[in-house]
Amino acid sequence: MKIIALNWKLNPETEKEALSLSGFSDRKGVVIFPPSIFLREIARRAKKAEVGAQNIFWEKKGAFTGETSPSMVRDAGVQWVLIGHSERRKYFGETDETVNKKILAACRAGLRVILCVGEPWSVRGNGVLDAKKFVARQLEDDLRGIKNFKFQIKNLVVAYEPVWAIGTGKSDRPEESAEMARFIKGILNTKYHIPNTKVLYGGSVNSKNIAAFLGADEIDGVLVGGASVRKEELKKMFEISNTK
Ligand code: PGA
Repeated sequence: MKIIALNWKLNPETEKEALSLSGFSDRKGVVIFPPSIFLREIARRAKKAEVGAQNIFWEKKGAFTGETSPSMVRDAGVQWVLIGHSERRKYFGETDETVNKKILAACRAGLRVILCVGEPWSVRGNGVLDAKKFVARQLEDDLRGIKNFKFQIKNLVVAYEPVWAIGTGKSDRPEESAEMARFIKGILNTKYHIPNTKVLYGGSVNSKNIAAFLGADEIDGVLVGGASVRKEELKKMFEISNTK
């Protein structure tokens, strides 16, 4: 079954709206990533969907004002975490080093990870080959040391999200993201001996283009941002993806 991951980002503003949205999205194959303040209640109510945090810190506890730890997230009944989203890299100073620490911490806590990678337009403009090199370098830095953690194969999912496609309405071409997905799976298989890693596509996925991405064999699902908090869009995307 393909994964439909819903990244709500900093939406919606109230718990009432959040619960209405999560109730609407409570389907098999769906993973909901709400703002952290809504996590516990959404996880408590979800019957079919799984729930994930949009970010975690790498320490378990201590003097780290404003952060949320992997164990706290687990305690809230959450199974997943999104790590390395480009908005976190851009606005919150996330680096490959901090992304790596968070991945290792998530592994230790037994959380399933969606690691986000993807190149900016300054790279992709030079062609797909440069984009592949960029993504390969990100994977190398972000996944450093995972072999030592007996990383459970099923716990890692990679989302290929070209930065220029996020929130722009300009998605990648499905053939090209399928090629990138194949490339990422190849790296994980040969370098980390993690076969069959699921790779999602993210970046301006909506009801009009979701079928093309889900139709590609190499793409194991989608990570939807903007369209994931609009019920009309969700309704159509659920119909197309046949999630129940
Ligand atoms: P978008 O965001 O669908 O709004 O482009 C995708 C994401 O941020 O994961």
